[in-house]
Amino acid sequence: MGDRIVVMGGGVIGLSCALELRRRGHEVTLLEIVDCGGQASGAAAGMLAPYSENVEGPDAFFKLCLGSLNLYPAWKDEVRTLSGQTFEYTESGSLYAAYHDADRLSLEGRLLWQRAFGSTGRILEGEELFRAEPLLSRDVKAALYTPEESHVYAPDYVRALEKACELTGVAIFERLEALTVEEWEHSVVVRAKDGRRFEGDRLLVCSGAWAKELEETFGIRIPIYPIRGQICAYGQEAGEVRHMVFTSQGYLVAKANGTLVCGASEDVAGFDTSVTERGIDRLRHWNRQAFLGLADLTPFHRWAGLRPSTQDGYPLLGQLSESKRVMLAAGHYRNGILLSPVTAKLAADAIEGAELPEWMSAFDPERFSL
Ligand code: FAD
Ligand code: GLY
Repeated sequence: MGDRIVVMGGGVIGLSCALELRRRGHEVTLLEIVDCGGQASGAAAGMLAPYSENVEGPDAFFKLCLGSLNLYPAWKDEVRTLSGQTFEYTESGSLYAAYHDADRLSLEGRLLWQRAFGSTGRILEGEELFRAEPLLSRDVKAALYTPEESHVYAPDYVRALEKACELTGVAIFERLEALTVEEWEHSVVVRAKDGRRFEGDRLLVCSGAWAKELEETFGIRIPIYPIRGQICAYGQEAGEVRHMVFTSQGYLVAKANGTLVCGASEDVAGFDTSVTERGIDRLRHWNRQAFLGLADLTPFHRWAGLRPSTQDGYPLLGQLSESKRVMLAAGHYRNGILLSPVTAKLAADAIEGAELPEWMSAFDPERFSL
């Protein structure tokens, strides 16, 4: 007989953790104040790109991201099987473009450490680069090619996770509007606005950019802030883009449905998810520098989501020292889609009492409370 686990939040993190815990035999209840997948997770570009997203070096966060990338092939099969739904998973590889000769040096530096961590990447330039990505602007001097990076279509992935949860027996409650954690030290009791009471042995907090609301309840600092990402998509007229293409300003990723998704701004705008002309114009400006053909096109779709950013850029992953009944899995900032399988595995391991690897201390949820 497993534990009774209450998961707060139905984004990619809450759904993945709920699914993994259910697969391991626990009784799981997932509580969502609005709709599952309706926030950052449904807005994401879906890139699984630990090398391109971590340009600084192989720190603990990179290792977490890489570990998750390696879990993806088996994880996505499992989610597809359990949900009976399919979703795009494309092993496109990526190109990180440099526009100046001087930037080639930084690509070389990155290639060096990335090779030590499994990448079989290399630098492409000239004819070879434009054969690989024919529509890429000739202003691009060189690009770091990383074949290991891939992407999913995030809205479908999240829908499949929700379906897999439902079919495996996770009890999902949506549109609860507001939740209060009434008890967390000796047992877990969460109360919904309409008075419904949810009980469990453990509480897993996966409420993304909203997790800070629980600071007072648990008496710890939870410095998670929303960083708005405005993003847009062109239709098939954008032409063929074969790889995910990153520049220092943004990225472009072609989806199997024929759209070219281009992101994304990083704005401090509170919990406002509106799209601004200025935000989209900046994206369009970068996009046409990478693909000249985009200069005359207008994105047909624009949207925005709130990344759960933390003070140091790392997620908060782990149990509270005051009560092992409470675990946080929030603050995945730019990489929550990528990090969903590893977060689910580590959360389930921790809840089952397994010792987490030493490097996980970088993600200690109480590191800001000292
Ligand atoms: P969310 O998806 O925001 O889910 C949190 C949920 O908790 C919400 O549904 C919310 O309603 C609910 N909630 C809030 N308060 C409560 C409460 N008190 N009780 C219960 N529920 C509550 N990541 C990648 O890996 N690759 C990408 O390419 C990528 N691209 C991105 C592009 C954009 C434009 C944006 C905005 C993000 C992108 N991300 C990407 C980041 C990724 O989307 C996030 O890291 C991830 O979705 C976070 O998941 P989450 O479940 O923690 O948060
Ligand atoms: N990881 C891409 C983004 O957050 O925009």
